[in-house]
Amino acid sequence: MTKVLTLILLLLSIDAIQGSEFTIREATIPEIQTAFKQNKLTSKDLVEFYIHEMQKLNPIYRAVIEVNPDAVHQAQKADEERKANAPKSRFGLHGIPILVKDNIATKDKLNTTAGSYALLKSVVPRDAGVVKKLRESGAIILGKASLSEWAHFRSSNAPSGWNARAKQAVNPYVASVDPCGSSTGSAISVATNMVTVSLGTETDGSILCPSSANSVVGIKPTLGLTSRAGVIPISPRQDTVGPMCRTVTDAVYVLDAIVGYDKNDEVETRKASKYIPHGGYLKHLKSGGLKGKRLGIVRDYPNFGFGNDTEILNKFKKHFMILRQNGATLVDNLEVPNYDYIMPMFLGEGIALSAEFKISLNAYLEELVASPVRSLADVIAFNKKFANVEKLKDYPQDIFLEAEKTNGIGELEKEALRNLTRASKLGFEKLMKENKLDALVTPYYGSTALAIGGYPGISVPAGYDKNGAPYGICFGGLKGSEPTLIEIAYGFEQATMVRKPPLIKD
Ligand SMILES: *[C@@H]1O[C@H](CO)[C@@H](O)[C@H](O)[C@H]1NC(C)=O
Ligand SMILES: *[C@@H]1O[C@H](CO)[C@@H](O)[C@H](O)[C@H]1NC(C)=O
Ligand SMILES: *[C@@H]1O[C@H](CO)[C@@H](O)[C@H](O)[C@H]1NC(C)=O
Repeated sequence: MTKVLTLILLLLSIDAIQGSEFTIREATIPEIQTAFKQNKLTSKDLVEFYIHEMQKLNPIYRAVIEVNPDAVHQAQKADEERKANAPKSRFGLHGIPILVKDNIATKDKLNTTAGSYALLKSVVPRDAGVVKKLRESGAIILGKASLSEWAHFRSSNAPSGWNARAKQAVNPYVASVDPCGSSTGSAISVATNMVTVSLGTETDGSILCPSSANSVVGIKPTLGLTSRAGVIPISPRQDTVGPMCRTVTDAVYVLDAIVGYDKNDEVETRKASKYIPHGGYLKHLKSGGLKGKRLGIVRDYPNFGFGNDTEILNKFKKHFMILRQNGATLVDNLEVPNYDYIMPMFLGEGIALSAEFKISLNAYLEELVASPVRSLADVIAFNKKFANVEKLKDYPQDIFLEAEKTNGIGELEKEALRNLTRASKLGFEKLMKENKLDALVTPYYGSTALAIGGYPGISVPAGYDKNGAPYGICFGGLKGSEPTLIEIAYGFEQATMVRKPPLIKD
């Protein structure tokens, strides 16, 4: 406490001397990097600040499951590298603390448990692909962010943000408002300045929705643009890993560090690596990014947009105007092609995910170096045995039980998978291509259309309702359209600057 106070006072006095202000709260990565260079801040200061904030705030918000006991030491190492002007210290994430969602494996003192006691003391074979890339870029893994247990794939009854280990995460803007799952801790930790940036994962809405609900920026990348190796899986066809940050700028720094080929997620990362722009994504953070962009709006149809909800449409009227004023062309009142034909096909998602989950979770568990559980059946038995652990009984494991009943990819699953591919081609892709859209604008958490097809989306803070509950605007696009989506998201963010940190009572 005293150390941190001294630090703050010291920073304030240096700020006063140099006539510029720097405070850790709300600072972006480029601001932090500048402060490092000007010797106003060290990585160690940063890590100690966040650990102190966690001690104070995490009992309220429950966004963090574990803190890395080696983080301070790693920060000191980063400080030494910077002093020695090591080549690594020029990377954007060098010395920057990050929290990763607790379903992303780290080969260190941290556990990787998806919030479940069943995986406590399991030993992962290696860092997840994205964690390896984070370490190579000099980031400091500060700890694990909490989540809806098993990424919301255990109980359809459990509230968003709840897991057996960390208990219920709390929306820092309005405590009674759903923080939206499953990357709740990733969103809340950055919203409350318990860390600089974080990683979340999404299968259907799990990055975009908590980003919207907690007023942060979330990027759900194209499937395979970021490696899923070492991530506790739901579906190799839908799972993605992406940044959750306070600003589009920070999110793009993180994206730059984690994209790319990984031999442990061979097929999809190879396919998607052609989308990575030469020289990375930072150059797409440019002013005037909305100019000339064609943005589609679907008013009527659920799963593609505003679902005929007049209240939501009214709320977004001013945003449509801002997009136009900044040079975008809005292609409004779009019809979804083949809507009646493709809608029944969306139901295949549940069938496919259930079978894919059992196959891929069993493969993940088998690969662990040590683990109390080795199969979905073991996890189900564990949960039965420890049903008296708070809430496990209240939130029955119905999704697990359904998945356990599946038996690989049979005829039914094959039909469901064909349906999902067809629905994407004849629906979302056709809509985008026929109208030459750069992005589809959707409210809140994007749409299932993005999830089933592995398409990218970015959620940006868009406002607060009359009770103070945040909501975001989502821009979704075709595979590999991240450069364009970043330009649009950054253009919108810079034109509006909506995000306000939550009011935190000390
Ligand atoms: C990981 O879990 C074990 C077993 O509960 C615990 O002793 C250890 O402290 C945990 N690691 C961290 C970094 O919290
Ligand atoms: C949306 O609302 C309009 C006006 O109420 C109605 O005509 C239209 O059929 C609705 N569309 C859908 C898909 O429900
Ligand atoms: C596939 O889509 C058709 C509609 O075209 C639907 O009747 C069928 O039930 C779907 N099958 C599965 C497994 O989702």
